[in-house]
Amino acid sequence: MKRVAVVGAQWGDEGKGKVVNYFAKDFEWIVRFAGGANAGHTIYVGDKKYINHLLPCILPDGTGRGFLGAGMVVDLEQLVAEVEVLAKDFPGVGTKFAVDPEVFLVLPWHKQQDQLLEAMRAEPIGTTGRGIGPAYTDKASREGIKLCHLFDEKMLTERLENSWVIKQNLYRGQFSMPPAELAGLLMRQRDRLLELGVQVTGAVDMAHIFRSTSVLFEGAQGVLLDLDFGTYPFVTSGSCMAHGVSSVGFSTFELDDVAGVLKAYTTRVGEGPFPSEDDTDVAQGIRERGKEYGATTGRPRRIGWLDLPALRYAAIRSGLTSLVITKADVLNGLKTVRVCTSYRIGGVVRDVPSTSHDFFVAEPVYEELPGWRTTDDVNFLKYMTFIEEQVSVPITYISYGPHTDEMETKSRLIMNI
Ligand code: IMP
Repeated sequence: MKRVAVVGAQWGDEGKGKVVNYFAKDFEWIVRFAGGANAGHTIYVGDKKYINHLLPCILPDGTGRGFLGAGMVVDLEQLVAEVEVLAKDFPGVGTKFAVDPEVFLVLPWHKQQDQLLEAMRAEPIGTTGRGIGPAYTDKASREGIKLCHLFDEKMLTERLENSWVIKQNLYRGQFSMPPAELAGLLMRQRDRLLELGVQVTGAVDMAHIFRSTSVLFEGAQGVLLDLDFGTYPFVTSGSCMAHGVSSVGFSTFELDDVAGVLKAYTTRVGEGPFPSEDDTDVAQGIRERGKEYGATTGRPRRIGWLDLPALRYAAIRSGLTSLVITKADVLNGLKTVRVCTSYRIGGVVRDVPSTSHDFFVAEPVYEELPGWRTTDDVNFLKYMTFIEEQVSVPITYISYGPHTDEMETKSRLIMNI
């Protein structure tokens, strides 16, 4: 049974949603295993665009189904809204989704806390404001609320009251929506979710199904935003690596492929180190052609050249076994493209940073390569071969447009040249 993980190999926004959507036809289950509504995965059905923040990128008109795994933090209001949007065009689509009762919930308090913390930070992280950090913090400090708590009203009320007292004390009474009101809201959201047909079923009960069918694991954000190994503290609060599949009961040894998705250049939203960042007119042109504005927040993304040391780091950290390159067409027509091939760190040239801290002090070393007119151009093939040789991971697919079918295997592309 085929099992593949698709993860971001840069700072997120690599086009994972589109890639997952392209592969979705070959899998019975699409499983999200980390992150929350900070993600923004864009998919197309025909010409209609949908942005999933929480829902796995299944084909809404196909036979595959989606699972929201326990490593996620779920905002029920957002989840209900996403299912409702899809259900308008695909009646009954809710029954194609199941969510693990062990997921932690993102509460309205967490979104307030996200804003309060950002305002207090000397160096704000530039979070998406979706309450992700505070929800994961409550999980780790054992104050969190799980979806399964919504099926035990007494426990839910006790836990919310306890959390309210702690939060109001820590933040000098700045939270609105007292526990009883919040409990009522959460129960209504739970009921609406069930009404839409979404099942609440855990990975334990799903284990025999997952192990007897094909599963595509859909990562969120990118390795360099991973809580443990990304450019800390300018990271998200969940796992962005293939290892996150453990929250659904799988080991990475059980995966046939860990596909790292990368753009032909690099982008980053929010604050934090970005060694190959470029702020010239060329970068501005790439931003406009690539529509590089955040799918969740609408913020303009920072633009930079392809960063091979960061890519090698991601490949090692997340055990990437293949690469899928997206948005190569955005660079069409440039006379030359720059590639950061190594970092100078403390006067020493290094191919790959040893620690996440190295990203803060790295000076990029560039090579300039000839540009290409279209992705059928031999110079684009050379660019891909250069990346493969430098990162020691093969490129399998190339995506050259936003629509699901605008994707090609590398071997097919070579045949056209
Ligand atoms: P948070 O996940 O909202 O706490 O934000 C932490 C950092 O991760 C910020 O720099 C965000 O811009 C970034 N981030 C979170 N989710 C995504 C994503 O899906 N794509 C790109 N950046 C993200």
